[in-house]
Amino acid sequence: MNKILGERHNLDDFNQELDVQGNLHHPCIVAILGIVIKPLCLITELCPYGDLYSYLHGDEIMSWHLKLRIARDIASGLMYMQSQTPPIAHIDLKSPNILLRSINPVEVCAQICDFGTSQRVLQPITVAKVDNPTWQAPEMLKSLPYTFKVDTYSFGIILWEILTREKLYQQFLFISDVANSVIAGERPGPSLIRVLGDSNS
Ligand SMILES: Nc1ncnc2c1ncn2[C@@H]1O[C@H](COP(=O)(O)OP(=O)(O)OP(=O)(O)O)[C@@H](O)[C@H]1O
Ligand SMILES: [Mg+2]
Repeated sequence: MNKILGERHNLDDFNQELDVQGNLHHPCIVAILGIVIKPLCLITELCPYGDLYSYLHGDEIMSWHLKLRIARDIASGLMYMQSQTPPIAHIDLKSPNILLRSINPVEVCAQICDFGTSQRVLQPITVAKVDNPTWQAPEMLKSLPYTFKVDTYSFGIILWEILTREKLYQQFLFISDVANSVIAGERPGPSLIRVLGDSNS
């Protein structure tokens, strides 16, 4: 089996990641196979097709079956996390944190990775843990308390990426403009309608 080492730099974050991810056992969540102390690394199975973001923006043709399979796998992993007691929030769910282990839609294709920001949600979270507004739910961008439901918003954004294979918010020059537009209620839109229209033709 091919394995990959993911180096980490903060012991507290490492312990938190290990504690959460090490207790998740699901085909759509990357499994931890071992750890290395020096340097601080997690060992996981290698996903040979890399991350979803890179794959979507590469040149490979993707069938509807594959797209649906990837979407279903992410939903399945997320549902498993959210059905834990207490629920697990990933908090940094985005296409670069989805790995592709297969592109054969009859197999499990996608796995959620990078649990560095994840935690069990006993009460609403008040700490901002990520700073890329593209996948961030509006409540997080507004610095309001948030729950595991922020992952469901991020999943919606990932669905848009899978359907369109476009990069989000290309119209904005500055990342702060993305945050402001999401807070103002704007969402990715017209091209999604175009893609759905195409699929009916
Ligand atoms: N098991 C794996 N198989 C294949 N590629 C992987 C694997 N784990 C990580 N990668 C690649 O490395 C990238 C970063 O991995 P990961 O998100 O786990 O680390 P990170 O230190 O949190 O990085 P970042 O800060 O960029 O999120 C992924 O987007 C993916 O391209
Ligand atoms: Mg990552």
